[in-house]
Amino acid sequence: MGVNFFFQIIKPFLFKLDAEKSHNFVFFCLSRLEILLGKFLKTPSPPIVKSTYVRNLFFRNRIGLAAGLDKNGQYIDLLARFGFGSIEIGTVTPEAQLGNEKPRLFRVENERALVNRLGFNNDGMHQVYKNIKKSRWVREKKGILGVNLGINKTTSLTNAYDDYRKGLLCFWDIASYFVINISSPNTMQVRDLQTAGYLEQLVDNIRRLQKQQNEKTHNGRLIFYKISPDNDQKNLARMCLVFNKLDIDGLIVTNTTNDHEGLINSIGEPGGLSGEPLEHRSLSCLKIVRPLLNEEIPIIASGGIMSKEAIKSRLNSGASIVQIYTGLIYEGPKIVFDFLRDS
Ligand SMILES: Cc1cc2nc3c(=O)[nH]c(=O)nc-3n(C[C@H](O)[C@H](O)[C@H](O)COP(=O)(O)O)c2cc1C
Repeated sequence: MGVNFFFQIIKPFLFKLDAEKSHNFVFFCLSRLEILLGKFLKTPSPPIVKSTYVRNLFFRNRIGLAAGLDKNGQYIDLLARFGFGSIEIGTVTPEAQLGNEKPRLFRVENERALVNRLGFNNDGMHQVYKNIKKSRWVREKKGILGVNLGINKTTSLTNAYDDYRKGLLCFWDIASYFVINISSPNTMQVRDLQTAGYLEQLVDNIRRLQKQQNEKTHNGRLIFYKISPDNDQKNLARMCLVFNKLDIDGLIVTNTTNDHEGLINSIGEPGGLSGEPLEHRSLSCLKIVRPLLNEEIPIIASGGIMSKEAIKSRLNSGASIVQIYTGLIYEGPKIVFDFLRDS
């Protein structure tokens, strides 16, 4: 595969650069290539391998791209060539924001991990909407597009619903599913939305809005919630009670962790840890949540899925779909086709 060959050649050079710069450089180059050559190529459909339904949505395969890699929905047609059955963009907030000070993304190469404290940097929902509209893959409805929503830094938690509402209404006609991100480790207090004081009211408000919108538009949009792996068992049980009571459409288990104990060599940089050291924690979280959640509520697994064995154990533990991010950074685009071939 051309893109993979290119990746393997430039990887040693890229891994010497600052992590965020090299990410931007690679995606800038590849997206230019996509613009140049894409019009001569067919829009790819995700390979059909062990396809499945999640509620009313047909996933041609079970490997999805996790949020955060394409925050602004600029690279959808390029990423679609890697074989993903679903692509989740974002986190998107109503207003554009710069995120935290740089440097804010770090590799821990020998442990196949990343630490990031980006802080919801994105171009704002209106620009992201325009970007999505340009995607042929989306227009031709080739795969599943998820839009992950967040709140602006200046929004207080009591007003969080307003920001999610704006995001939902903005992307309602274009997203296949939404993710309400209540688990970012890098945005002041967002994770507090998982606590008793906020969660039930928030989910209830969103559920009402969803019902109204689905009745009006008849397009049955799904809304998932993404949780942190840093919740203890008691918290997870309490959250599942709310999710069951309000009958949410699905859960993403999990985001990155703030706990760096899984790292053998600490890098002394705070932020969300992803990749191999997250695998065990994220899987444990799935194993706690699955039996607590109503059977009909599907789970999408994310967190340290870097091998075929990791995929198998998530699917065997009750996940319907798996998502990857850090694995793609370390292995390159061939990872998706490798996983699909052997699954
Ligand atoms: C650099 C980076 C940025 C991320 N940004 C987001 C984000 O904006 N929203 C979100 O829900 N998750 C975000 N994530 C979390 C990923 O979607 C994923 O849940 C997490 O990295 C665990 O999967 P992995 O170990 O395969 O990377 C980000 C992860 C990384 C590494």
